[in-house]
Amino acid sequence: MQHHNPGAFPEGFLWGASTSAYQIEGAWNADGKGPSVIDHARFSDNVTDFTVCSDHYHRFKEDIALLAEMGLKTYRFSIAWSRLYPDGDGELNPAGVAFYQQLIDEICRHGIEPLVTLYHFDLPWALQQTGGWSNRRTVAAFERFAVTCFEHYGKQVKYWLTINEQNMMILKGEVIGTLAEGTEDVQRSLYQQNHHMMLAQARAMIACHQRLPDAKIGPAPNISCVYAASSRPEDVLAADNFSAIRNWLYLDLAVHGRYNAVVWAFLQQRGWLPEIEAGDMETIAAGKPDFIAFNYYASATVSADLPDAARGELNSKQKADQQMAGIDSTVYVGCNNPHLPQNQFGWYIDPVGFRITAREIYARYALPLIVTENGLGAFDTLEAGNKVHDDYRIAYLRDHLRQLRLAIADGVALFGYCPWSAIDLVSTHQGISKRYGFIYVNRDEHDLKDLARYRKKSFFWYQQLIASNGATLDDAVSY
Ligand code: BG6
Repeated sequence: MQHHNPGAFPEGFLWGASTSAYQIEGAWNADGKGPSVIDHARFSDNVTDFTVCSDHYHRFKEDIALLAEMGLKTYRFSIAWSRLYPDGDGELNPAGVAFYQQLIDEICRHGIEPLVTLYHFDLPWALQQTGGWSNRRTVAAFERFAVTCFEHYGKQVKYWLTINEQNMMILKGEVIGTLAEGTEDVQRSLYQQNHHMMLAQARAMIACHQRLPDAKIGPAPNISCVYAASSRPEDVLAADNFSAIRNWLYLDLAVHGRYNAVVWAFLQQRGWLPEIEAGDMETIAAGKPDFIAFNYYASATVSADLPDAARGELNSKQKADQQMAGIDSTVYVGCNNPHLPQNQFGWYIDPVGFRITAREIYARYALPLIVTENGLGAFDTLEAGNKVHDDYRIAYLRDHLRQLRLAIADGVALFGYCPWSAIDLVSTHQGISKRYGFIYVNRDEHDLKDLARYRKKSFFWYQQLIASNGATLDDAVSY
């Protein structure tokens, strides 16, 4: 649909930016913090130094001042569970509680709205050793951790996110490290973990509403539209299959409290159904989100596995997506999309897909939306005068925001946008060289240099955009 004018961002729109604890803080074992699954997985692959990350733990005041200078209305960050409970479920660590209190005080002092993710991939290692999310005990441990956060920080924090990208943890469990090594029945175990996380999320949402009646809480999955490679009905069906497995399973449970019928049939036929105890579905149905947060980077394209399917050579990202959760080719087959450019890492760049995704989510669930991740990972170069000319990042964000503005004009109730990432941090898969931030952090993979902060060109662009509530989006970039 074309609009007569591009529309505008609503008054009070939450312009923000995002990070996560394990990617930015460093200080992985400081002041009583226990190790997490990420500490274990990342130390062994040795891609980068994860012990210091961006050293935010020691430099958070400087970082928050920079974010305030950029004009952020909200800042999304996560609380490291094992900083509060070093073994996940035992003694509370007062130094961990104090760190986040200081961080939240600093954020609020600058007039920025804190947006807190309770859990962003970093399950305490001690819980992992007793089965992690495969063990129901972890559900109660998460609820306890969430309640601790609500009790300590609830006076200042109004917006909460439960679990970051639960769908990616299930679909790519081996990469993120949620599954114990040597797990035999991988898919069944993953969907059992999924059920436990759904319960944990519901219990956290219920606890939040009981304790903090003015707070708002929601899930934060990675959602993206799925295109059929052609108008052949079988391809359209394949796209519907993948969308149900990738996207709607998670949001149908979070919002409507029920398993998606297509996914249920898919799990049943493969013997991957989770064990559901009496009362579980009632609990899941009782945990109601106030909004939906979603992360969006790229769209996906799929076809049915028909003999005449001309799919061509898959790029690396599509190959990885095809392996998601061991889904076989009777469900869908990942395809390349000749209509879209790719970034340096093979991810499709699809701003229109962003608009489609926002519209689809809103049409299905009719809850307010906030974008909690969107951005471009790239090999930035620090040039003379400590400048970073990241025009490619500005172009990516500008194109995506134009489509978001159109989604708002389409009627989608969207109340905020938090690109990834506020400042440079260690990428989940490719170390610090794959940068996303508005602020450059001066370090390499293993040479930590001086960790100085430098404002990139995109910093000034975003600053101007926020100051104008998005009105400068179509202006030429002139600095
Ligand atoms: C999201 C995660 O999946 O994507 C982030 O929530 C992650 O933690 C981001 O960093 C980008 O992925 P990557 O692998 O490029 O860091």
